[in-house]
Amino acid sequence: MTDPRARHQELVQDIEAHRHAYYAEDAPTVSDAEYDSLERELRELEARHPELATPESPTQTVGGAVATGFASVAHRERMMSLDNAFSVEDVEAWLARVEKEAGPQRIVCEPKIDGLSISLTYERGELVRGVTRGDGTTGEDVTANVLTIAGLPHRLAGEHVPGLVEIRGEVFLPVAAFEELNAGLLEEGKAPYANPRNTAAGSLRQKDPSVTATRPLAVTAYALGALDWAGTAPDPRASSQHGIYEVLASWGLPVTEHARVVTGVAEVEAYLADLEARRHAMIHEIDGAVLKVEDRAVQGRLGSTSRAPRWAIAYKFAPEEVHTTLLDIRVDVGRTGRVTPYGVMTPVTVAGSTVTYATLHNAHEVARKGVLIGDTVVLRKAGDVIPEIVGPVVAARTGAERAWTMPGECPSCGTPLAEQKEGDKDLRCPNSERCPAQIVDRIAFIGSRGALDVEVLGEKAAHALVESGVLANEAGLFDLSEEDLRRVPLFTYDVDEKLTRRQVEAGVEGRRAGDVSANGLKLLENLAGARSQPLWRVVVSLSIRHVGPTASRALATAFGSMDAIRAASEQDLAAVDGVGSVIAESVLQWFEVPWHAEIVDRWAAAGVRMEDERDESVVRTLEGLTVVATGSLEGFTRDSVKEAIISRGGKAAASVSKNTDYVVVGANAGSKAAKADQLGVPILDEAGFVRLLEVGPAAQAE
Ligand code: IVH
Repeated sequence: MTDPRARHQELVQDIEAHRHAYYAEDAPTVSDAEYDSLERELRELEARHPELATPESPTQTVGGAVATGFASVAHRERMMSLDNAFSVEDVEAWLARVEKEAGPQRIVCEPKIDGLSISLTYERGELVRGVTRGDGTTGEDVTANVLTIAGLPHRLAGEHVPGLVEIRGEVFLPVAAFEELNAGLLEEGKAPYANPRNTAAGSLRQKDPSVTATRPLAVTAYALGALDWAGTAPDPRASSQHGIYEVLASWGLPVTEHARVVTGVAEVEAYLADLEARRHAMIHEIDGAVLKVEDRAVQGRLGSTSRAPRWAIAYKFAPEEVHTTLLDIRVDVGRTGRVTPYGVMTPVTVAGSTVTYATLHNAHEVARKGVLIGDTVVLRKAGDVIPEIVGPVVAARTGAERAWTMPGECPSCGTPLAEQKEGDKDLRCPNSERCPAQIVDRIAFIGSRGALDVEVLGEKAAHALVESGVLANEAGLFDLSEEDLRRVPLFTYDVDEKLTRRQVEAGVEGRRAGDVSANGLKLLENLAGARSQPLWRVVVSLSIRHVGPTASRALATAFGSMDAIRAASEQDLAAVDGVGSVIAESVLQWFEVPWHAEIVDRWAAAGVRMEDERDESVVRTLEGLTVVATGSLEGFTRDSVKEAIISRGGKAAASVSKNTDYVVVGANAGSKAAKADQLGVPILDEAGFVRLLEVGPAAQAE
């Protein structure tokens, strides 16, 4: 085992270096989660070896050593940090400690804003100073910059204004402003900022306040520091925690609207769950919740350690941003030949799932992000969003990293890569006829849910069918026989089945090595079933560029048969609602290629549906109407809602505009319902929708 003293020293050094990078340089070297875990290890080590917990230990101090450049200012009252809870159990343990000492308590729950703390001094109601937290005792004077923050009053409002007050709060950059700022930087070809917190910190610590003024920073106030109170009005410190927020608000300071006073562990946990669910719907980033005892007398009784109050705790959500190593950058060839670089990383857990790969989109993105193979990278997965490599941690470089270059040739077939047209960001492999990677991807795509939905026909099966030479491309897919599958190891048994003596005596014929497996038979059966999928799904399955489910549906509805689509002129095609000139040109060019035409011919010969019979029993009640469905309905899936609208002659649109005739609103609908309301578009519930399908607009009159 390592010597605890040596490990202690190592941890202290690491933590101090990370604190410096985070607070003084606005350029963190580790993720918040890693930092928290170092601090936790140090705290545990000191619990086992109390002699190591000197007053200088980071467990006893508040992070943020003062850097040069700004004048240092002593806080009149110390600025505290918060202890962390990383699980609901930690929260329960904290609440149990509090309630053991002070009995049942009302608890104020509020968001933990991911910004930087600030102390604002008002003298006789006038904002005279803004100071960063620093080490809690002394911070940096950023008054000139603080004065540029739009929502922050320079004068306190109300009649009862103290002679002097320090107000504590969090400075942040709203997410929308951050995104806008980054979009602008990207447009100018500059590197974007990593996240709103660092941008806010960097903005507040600008040497030139006119730069800060261009950043739409905001503040939320949440505590009082020093206070000189004279006069007849009640002293705000005698109020409750929540009452303090009311006093702050009465002075015209921005306070959170998300604070709630609750009682008992169940209500606290319900708040935490609700807050986490709404995490991305807030104007600022939050990294958890802060729980505070409501009763100020109890707060006083519980007191503080040298760095944090005992009457409050920060509950941290699972991190959405982590650091990991970029082991390699590889390229993938997609079904339309697009060649996409992606990062291979040391697997990490982020926002609850394990991530190993993340797309890097194209070579320009790799260059823009500036990542090198071997880099420590910031990986971010916010909410349901696909994991993204944000950028490198430059400070963590060792010199062993190496640059990546986009290959000039297709990694699958060796054909030189090219832009489809000048100025394209993507490179493509033009060999769509023979490139194995493209053929495999196209075949797997045919099996996918959005196309012909053939169970068993996935990436692995497609690969096996092509590799064994049974399929040269997708043209022969519906001609596959049991005989063919015998040549595909994936679909055969590799050993004879062992039979019991009784089975042998009873004449049971066991399966033999080389026989087609149950899975293989299932594939054939599913392919047979897929032949009668509706025409639009067959169109999707052809992997024509730009022709996704929406365009395919539009084409199938407008022309009714593959022959009619094929025979249509570019003009006819472009005239279809939801098609347009780009798609029309793409469709026309696709059918002109002989091997493409052969796919369609062979599928037709194999019995794949090439014509939609109009179901005459379905009355075209929605002819000419545009309907948007949002939220989940009980009797419909996403697909079947569209099907229902289109088969009745209507158009199923994705977004609400003034051309929308009806909006159908199901459970958990998002902003579309509000938009409809705003535009005065009629809103239907599920029952109203069903009626609309039956009788058309007449339903409204009922
Ligand atoms: S109260 C004495 N409330 O989190 C209590 N802090 O990790 C002082 N923070 O230094 C803090 N949102 O910068 C409080 N609603 C909130 C907060 C909050 C964010 C920050 C604050 C603090 C840090 C501790």
